[in-house]
Amino acid sequence: MVTAYIDGIKVTVPEGTTILQAAKQANIDIPTLCFLERLEPRGSCRVCVVEIEGEKRLSPSCKREIQDGMRIRTNSPRVREARRTIVELLISDHYEDCLSCVKNQECELLALARRLNISTVPFPKSEGSEAEIDETSLALIRDNRKCVLCGRCVRVCREIQTAHAIDFVGRGRDLRVSAWLDQGLGNVMCTNCGQCLQVCPVGAIYERSEIAQVWRAIESPDLFVVVQEAPSVRVGLAEALGLPPGTVVTGKMYAALKRLGFDAVCDTNFAADLTIVEEATELIDRVKNGGTLPMITSCCPGWIKFMEDNYPDLMDHVSTCKSPQQMFGAVAKTYFAKKRGIDPSKIVSVSIMPCTAKKFEKEREEMKDSGQRDVDFVLTTREIARMIQEAGIDFVNLPEEEADPDLGYYTGAGTIFGATGGVMEAALRTAYCYLTGKRPPKLEFEDVRGVEGVKSATININGLEIKVAVAHELGNARKVLDELREGKSPYTFIEIMACPGGCVGGGGQPSNFSLELRSKRAEGLYEDDLHSKERMSHENPAIQRLYSEFLGEPGSELAHKLLHTHYHSRTYS
Ligand code: FES
Repeated sequence: MVTAYIDGIKVTVPEGTTILQAAKQANIDIPTLCFLERLEPRGSCRVCVVEIEGEKRLSPSCKREIQDGMRIRTNSPRVREARRTIVELLISDHYEDCLSCVKNQECELLALARRLNISTVPFPKSEGSEAEIDETSLALIRDNRKCVLCGRCVRVCREIQTAHAIDFVGRGRDLRVSAWLDQGLGNVMCTNCGQCLQVCPVGAIYERSEIAQVWRAIESPDLFVVVQEAPSVRVGLAEALGLPPGTVVTGKMYAALKRLGFDAVCDTNFAADLTIVEEATELIDRVKNGGTLPMITSCCPGWIKFMEDNYPDLMDHVSTCKSPQQMFGAVAKTYFAKKRGIDPSKIVSVSIMPCTAKKFEKEREEMKDSGQRDVDFVLTTREIARMIQEAGIDFVNLPEEEADPDLGYYTGAGTIFGATGGVMEAALRTAYCYLTGKRPPKLEFEDVRGVEGVKSATININGLEIKVAVAHELGNARKVLDELREGKSPYTFIEIMACPGGCVGGGGQPSNFSLELRSKRAEGLYEDDLHSKERMSHENPAIQRLYSEFLGEPGSELAHKLLHTHYHSRTYS
């Protein structure tokens, strides 16, 4: 342990503790910009500088370890002046369009300026140029005019996701963040997960918005607009509209979407149940008939792109099931269109997702099995929150409403898809029933819950030992995949989700990188499951009806045509 004094307060902390951490322990809040929990401290912005007695230069507190006997000042005139100058310089270099910026309510640079009492900037303003905007990606837009070079996006992409899609290029005044070899985000190994956007302190990265197209579709009298919402949107939306983290707002969400003018308000949870029925059927078929094992889940488009970029040799391990979003789209433009007597070409299929990679997924060439594009537009949780606000809907006080009975009814198993381990748990419930003809003794498979990077468990189903693994974040997925590549994988079934915490922490959710907060969102989903009338996907009466009226059996030819897909390896020049 070491003992030091911060602003006169005695602190005793373990050796190796940074000044920033020690100050936090003493309830002293030092401002930061490039620093973010879970990422390697870079110490580059110097907003967090402090004064150490006996030292000439100020030190970045996020990187500097505290030492025995140190006397530190976090708020001296010299420190305040230095911080102010740093932030003033950042602002002078920052292209200002605060009025229309996507981050305008939560911009960390703006918050810093306020906190440091900056009202005027004594340096000339940067004009910025359109050339600095990268629009090559189907999911994300990078605007380097606003970049403050904190490097959080680079580090999350490298350290957490191990995708290495972006990095710093150039030197001195030419230093900037760019996709590999300046080729544009859409032309490199970017998984579209959007975690870069989650950690960006300003509005330098944001989703490719489709709000305008969706408003137009809603207003068009010829079109029938069907909307689905992913499991974790019902917790993310609560936060975006001012309710506490973990609050489940399913009924209010349906009501708001109806008021916005969608013609049919359905639910991706229904399609999550459908995915489980198809995926459990596929797993059992692989186990019984010597198919490729372990089988890996395929719901997450960030993970699928990562696999196509980095592990195409493991492609046969990946389930052929489409994601719930795409299954929903295919069913909406076939079964639902037929049932309601609507021309499928007049149906516009909109999905509300916690995910930016879904914007990429819906554009994939393979996703047209309904004869049309299965999903036309994808809005993130943040985008739909903006639409609800724009429409002046008092969300918090909305009375709850129901979803469409055909494509909106779901079980608890469908809801937990939104948390890491949820797909695995939902699949195990149904696989257990399919293999034994009985319900599992306990529906909760606790071993696959929580935010540990890689979780594993052995499930005994009638004497058959199934070893399973769950990985979230692509860096953790790599560990499981490398083991598989080396022929050492002990697993039968693996779930992979690209984002920290699973979809609850997706790139389209309200910005926050804390795993603690993401766990709260997951708790909301598990609560929803616990109170659901049905908790196993194959017991969903709407799913049973879909098979009896349209698809036939799980895994049938029609089910394969509409609900399954294939993948391909990708090369980049
Ligand atoms: Fe410490 Fe940037 S926050 S140097």
